[in-house]
Amino acid sequence: MKRVKAILFVLLTISFVSFGQFKLPPLQFKYNALEPTIDSTTMYIHYNFHHTAYATNLNKALEKYPELYKKDILELIQNINELPADIQTAVRNNGGGYYNHNFFWTILAPAGTAPMSPKLEKILVENFGSIDAFKAEFEKAAVGRFGSGWAWLIKDSTGKLRVISTPNQDNSLMQKAEVKGKPVLAIDVWEHAYYLKYQNKRVVYVKAFWNVVNWTEVERLIAM
Ligand SMILES: [Fe+2]
Repeated sequence: MKRVKAILFVLLTISFVSFGQFKLPPLQFKYNALEPTIDSTTMYIHYNFHHTAYATNLNKALEKYPELYKKDILELIQNINELPADIQTAVRNNGGGYYNHNFFWTILAPAGTAPMSPKLEKILVENFGSIDAFKAEFEKAAVGRFGSGWAWLIKDSTGKLRVISTPNQDNSLMQKAEVKGKPVLAIDVWEHAYYLKYQNKRVVYVKAFWNVVNWTEVERLIAM
């Protein structure tokens, strides 16, 4: 099994590198570091297959317009309407998937390693009334997202924190976003993120997610 995984990884890496600019950032933790909340097999497949596929397909979509490889991923997904019409959907889906997963890994951390500080607790209470109220609103957005998508904590242009959800690989930075703002926390509620361990019980996955949030990073992003 290890050998098969190694061969697949090498093949994926070769095919990926040959297409263009957008590459996966290295994970800052091991595949098993988030166990038991997120199992290592899910983490391995999520990063090496799903995330990699978004990067590969984004690079493929840009092949006709290689000058776009020079752009930052944020620049691409914030200005989809200005891209050539024939690649807008591909960039929305795969550029969104690439960006969202890059972001997702940064706000995860092994349980107990990045707890919520009193300062962040105060900020969340100011915005939502209590930590329980914040978590309930976030869980409701994550569980209530029909089909595939994400729930987010975002900071809007006035500095207020808001909980939203988006379908598919959309996010609050895109031009067509219903509510715009800077992501500071997210949960991936595509089935590929939880089905191996939690099957159809998305609500159990969403409640367990709090065990592996990197609150230090969330606080840093809010302060930016
Ligand atoms: Fe995902």
